[in-house]
Amino acid sequence: MSKTIFVSNRLPVTVSKSESGLDYKESIGGLATGLKNYHEQGDTIWAGWPGVAKDDLSEEEVASVASTLKNDYKCLSVPLTSEDIEMYYYGFCNETIWPLFHYFTSAVEYRRKTWEAYKRVNRTFFDAVDPLIEEGDTIWIHDYQLMLLPQMIREKHPDVKIGFFLHIPFPSFETYRLLIWRNELLEGLLGANLIGFHTYDYVRHFLSTVRRLLGHEHNLYKIQFETHLTQVDAFPMGIDYDYFSKSPTEENISQESLDFIESTKDLRNIISVDRLDYTKGIPDRIKAFKHFLAKYPEYHEKVRLNLIIAPSRVGIEKYDNLKREIEELVSEVNGEYGTFSWMPVWFFFRTVSQDELIAFYRNSDVLLVTPLRDGMNLVAKEYVAARTDNKGMLVMSETAGAASELGEAVIVNPNDHEAIANGIKMALEMPEDDKMDRNKNMHRRLSRYNVKFWAEEFLNTLWAAPEDRIATEPL
Ligand code: ADP
Ligand code: F6P
Repeated sequence: MSKTIFVSNRLPVTVSKSESGLDYKESIGGLATGLKNYHEQGDTIWAGWPGVAKDDLSEEEVASVASTLKNDYKCLSVPLTSEDIEMYYYGFCNETIWPLFHYFTSAVEYRRKTWEAYKRVNRTFFDAVDPLIEEGDTIWIHDYQLMLLPQMIREKHPDVKIGFFLHIPFPSFETYRLLIWRNELLEGLLGANLIGFHTYDYVRHFLSTVRRLLGHEHNLYKIQFETHLTQVDAFPMGIDYDYFSKSPTEENISQESLDFIESTKDLRNIISVDRLDYTKGIPDRIKAFKHFLAKYPEYHEKVRLNLIIAPSRVGIEKYDNLKREIEELVSEVNGEYGTFSWMPVWFFFRTVSQDELIAFYRNSDVLLVTPLRDGMNLVAKEYVAARTDNKGMLVMSETAGAASELGEAVIVNPNDHEAIANGIKMALEMPEDDKMDRNKNMHRRLSRYNVKFWAEEFLNTLWAAPEDRIATEPL
């Protein structure tokens, strides 16, 4: 029987080793949280890196991780060494592709050694999934860590259906062209039968980049590459709407979180939820909140900004510095505006369970999410879904992919502190009936275009993608 194999760098579960043994925790990040429920309910196998270096484990532990992932999570472990993680994951993925694709061009490192590691580790992923692949199977590869994998699979298995989805933005040609290994990555991707992006802007950028760098024109979003056609399209990723719109299970909410919710009761609450990342615009957001307090003193002692930030890519200097910058800004605002009975910003550097997150969302008047650049931003969708009473309001930057689907939100330029401050005020003071109308529209869209719809739409398009063929005349 044919099967579907997901392949991504990160699995829905991350393994770590401590003195008490091996620990398995839910992974954080759009790809993992978004696809997890679909994978649990469906008939899929998910191949990926377990999140711990193979050389930090004994042989027995490597075997134990592999068998737990297989039996309890339907996952295939792709073990990586600490050298791989350093050079491929922290190196090429997160010091080269990540900043470049998010338009942080001056932060991009161009290092041949990390590029060599990227190629080698993509081959490691190929070697891991290759033995699983049988005729009629579907392989769905996810994200920027594995852009060479589609073509590697195609060379050995020309008849399987290969899909690729990019969870981050695809930048404009002028930005993408800065990459030294630009053609190799495009050719790696074009090994797929279907390439999906979150928005039509990313599709446009990709098609024009392929034309300008490789000279391949497209016809109705189809590109003739070697002996097959690659279809390209936008598939905006949804969330598990039913899950986020149901009441959270009380037993899954810690006493500490309940106390935190209780402490917000007499205030207007603004919440921000992000992975720690410089693309998320957190320092500008805090500065904008400070500006809000300066401009609208009537909100002193009445409003609070709750920052719930998940640790991410710990050990990369840029991320460690960002955490320090946030801490300094938070103390600056609290020092300047706080009173003995009121602290305007509360900062938590931790992950919380999904039930706690839903409870926090439900308790917040505003979600403030202002990434400088974000492929989609699922947090924005989760918040709207969780506020089933339609009494919350989303303030979101125009540079998040989700902004093109949630036009009813208060949309701001993330660099414009004045606009963010005014956006916060507008959201806090929006008349109930206006909020109701805007939220109802967003709910309708989110419940229809949920994560199941997204995955099925992508897979159905992949299965229906035109048969491979050698075109005799140009498309
Ligand atoms: P990215 O993929 O860049 O991390 P998204 O907003 O698309 O951004 O996805 C982030 C996911 O991680 C969301 O599902 C969100 O609920 C989850 N998440 C982010 N921060 C936290 C946190 N502090 N605790 C728990 N979950 C979090
Ligand atoms: O949304 C982009 C993304 O890379 C996801 O693929 C991933 O789940 C998330 O960011 C977290 O990043 P990492 O896997 O590096 O922790």
